[in-house]
Amino acid sequence: MEDVLATTDGIIDVHGADQEALVEILREVNEVSGHLSREQMQRIASRLSLPLSKVYSVASFYSLISLEPLGKHVVRFCQDAPCHVVGGQQVWEALEHELGIPFGATSLDGEWSLLTTSCIGACAVGPVMMVDSDIHGNLDPQKVREIIARYRGEERSGGIV
Ligand code: FES
Repeated sequence: MEDVLATTDGIIDVHGADQEALVEILREVNEVSGHLSREQMQRIASRLSLPLSKVYSVASFYSLISLEPLGKHVVRFCQDAPCHVVGGQQVWEALEHELGIPFGATSLDGEWSLLTTSCIGACAVGPVMMVDSDIHGNLDPQKVREIIARYRGEERSGGIV
C-alpha cells in the first residue's frame, strides 16, 4: 500500500497539488494503478484540500476511471443511442455470450471486465467498443468473436479482420 500511495503522491506532485488538476490526477492514478482505491482517493483529497465526497463524485462520474480492481482486459461498450440503433443490442448480447459474464462483471479468472461507457466520439463507426485502449468500430456479433479471440491469442480459421 505504501508503494501505491507513493506513486499517488508522485502524480499529485507533478500537478503541484492543484485542485484544478483533479480530473487529470484521478485519470493518471487510475491508469498507473488499474483502479482508484479508497486510500488513494483519501490521499488525493487530503493533498488537494478537498472533501473526500468531492473526489469520489468526480471519480465515479468518469466511466474510464474505475473504483474497483478490473480484469487484465477491459471491454467498454458504448451504450449511447447512435451506437444502439445500428445494432448495439446484438453486439451487447454477443459480448456477454463470448465472455461468459454480464455487463458490470469481471470474470472469475481475472482476465476480462465487461463495462459500458457513454459516447467515445466514434459514432460514425458504431457500434463501438474499447478493449483496453484500442477502439473497435462497425461491430457485429461475428466481429466481436474475432476481436475477443485475437486478445485471447487464439487462431481461428477465416482470419481476423
Ligand atoms: S454514440 Fe457510440 S461512439 Fe458515439
